[in-house]
Amino acid sequence: MTSSQPVAQSFVPRAQGVGFLLLGIQNALSKQILMRVPEPQSVMADPSQVADYQFACETWMSLYYALTWEALYCAGVAPHGTALDLACGSGWFSRGLAHYLGQQVVGVDLAEPMLTVARKAARDVSCEHQLQFLAGDATKLAHIPGLPQTFDLTCMTLAAHHLDSMANLSATVQAMHARTAPDGIVCIMDLVRPRTQALTERFLALTTPDYARAGKTSLVDDTRHSMYAAWSPEEFAAALPKTPGRRFWQIVSPGVPLVQLLVGVPETRTKLFVRTGMPWTDALHPVPRAFRRQWRMLRWATLGRQRLLC
Ligand SMILES: C[S@@+](CC[C@H](N)C(=O)[O-])C[C@H]1O[C@@H](n2cnc3c(N)ncnc32)[C@H](O)[C@@H]1O
Repeated sequence: MTSSQPVAQSFVPRAQGVGFLLLGIQNALSKQILMRVPEPQSVMADPSQVADYQFACETWMSLYYALTWEALYCAGVAPHGTALDLACGSGWFSRGLAHYLGQQVVGVDLAEPMLTVARKAARDVSCEHQLQFLAGDATKLAHIPGLPQTFDLTCMTLAAHHLDSMANLSATVQAMHARTAPDGIVCIMDLVRPRTQALTERFLALTTPDYARAGKTSLVDDTRHSMYAAWSPEEFAAALPKTPGRRFWQIVSPGVPLVQLLVGVPETRTKLFVRTGMPWTDALHPVPRAFRRQWRMLRWATLGRQRLLC
């Protein structure tokens, strides 16, 4: 994908890799003591926050997006299908859906400054014919004028932790399921809350120096808030409503508490993944070169860990 911002040049020296490994082991051995603290500000409408967010999309978060696009590709997303991207923010993930998976995407967010960036970026990469961005509440889809009733794919990335309660998360997943064609796919990707406060702070100490070095100070606080507000894998699974006709699979990165996905596919399918490979060539890789080692490790460790929930 064409990027609009300079990309961080170096990333995660070897010592940091060891730090991640130790953190992962400790997290795996700990109990979930850290309680959830909801996001202090669920809608991201502050312009400086929006600008800084772009930087995060091109650094750490590029790993999570790539993992999700690949998972969707392997789960058999229909080529040239229609997609709904809820709480789309600046549209980074939406653009990848259009670019890598050939989707016709409608993105929805409550923050106008995010939507302004999303619309401009779509024009900058000449993808405006595939991308439409609407202002609206992801938890009140019936109130969004002009929103189609059904999509082949409905997604929500890095935004479930912005919802205030498990009941709201559950209702949102239910609404996504209802808006998805019977043979379509539902996908929610989000962060994982570490098991203790000390582990969360150590995780932040490993990841946020890149943000601080680049002068993106608001990202350090945003990341902290996001990690405290994230759902544990158990909460994520428990929030899943009954979805007749669809089976949900959960994928959680092992050890280091990075990322989790819920993917709902037609119940007639016995496997989550129906094809292999990646939807991009090396030249169009969504992960900056400086992050590829981390991305290879993350996908190797994560994509094979699918658990059927219901
Ligand atoms: C961390 S950003 C994620 C953006 C995007 N999905 C991504 O992966 O880059 C969370 C987004 O959720 C939006 N948001 C929070 N609550 C929302 C709601 N109820 N309806 C629509 N958007 C919401 C915020 O404005 C923000 O843009």
